[in-house]
Amino acid sequence: MAEAPLTDPAAAWLARGVPRPESRPFPARDGAGLDGLCLAADRSREAADTLDHLICLLGVGQEGWHAEHVRRVVLQAERLAAALGLAPDEVRAVRWGAALHDIGKTRVPQAILQKTGPLDPLEYGVILQHPEWGVELLEGLPFLPQATREAVRSHHERWDGGGYPAGLRGDQIPLSARIVSLADVFDALTQRRPYKPAWTEQEAARSLLREAGRQFDPDLAPLFVEAVLGLGHLTALPSITGYPLF
Ligand SMILES: [Fe+2]
Repeated sequence: MAEAPLTDPAAAWLARGVPRPESRPFPARDGAGLDGLCLAADRSREAADTLDHLICLLGVGQEGWHAEHVRRVVLQAERLAAALGLAPDEVRAVRWGAALHDIGKTRVPQAILQKTGPLDPLEYGVILQHPEWGVELLEGLPFLPQATREAVRSHHERWDGGGYPAGLRGDQIPLSARIVSLADVFDALTQRRPYKPAWTEQEAARSLLREAGRQFDPDLAPLFVEAVLGLGHLTALPSITGYPLF
């Protein structure tokens, strides 16, 4: 009789690497049985680690500055999720969302991605498609958590409702997306771009705080500055204006 297809890659690897119980029953002796369970647990962890590595490679497997950008966003989004006290599987979902947040840009022509001058309305319209395209590309990975897909779809939404693609507002924006948004924008601010110099971490942190309640979740932005960046002293200062808005 044909076996049902395995939809979870981790389960598929386990099925290949660990003989099924019916083909190799646990040994009768307690010690050997414990060894078997430990071996299965080790292989389960190995499969999970491999899957995590592959997901992150998928996200960073693009050329140039983008790969390093994704690595930093993954690290900082994961730290913010942990600082929030999320459960390990929720932190992992955020981590994967951070890794894959711009996967939809693989459908955007390089001529647009690498353009140094201002984008025309048609080109800008193409860029605006990348969150939805990202979700479409991930449809073939059904084991991904919903929070991961939500981070990909909604990482350009704004707390005040002025973002895209859906114009979500406040708590309508999934938490994973609000986390990835902070890490994504902070890293963009601290890197040099054709249209701006690199900002210092303190300048970028002040910008995040100024945008709390406008672009960003008003509770998450100060937590990011304090717990992830270690710049908590800035959260006690009055907002400093004069920086260009993103
Ligand atoms: Fe993006």
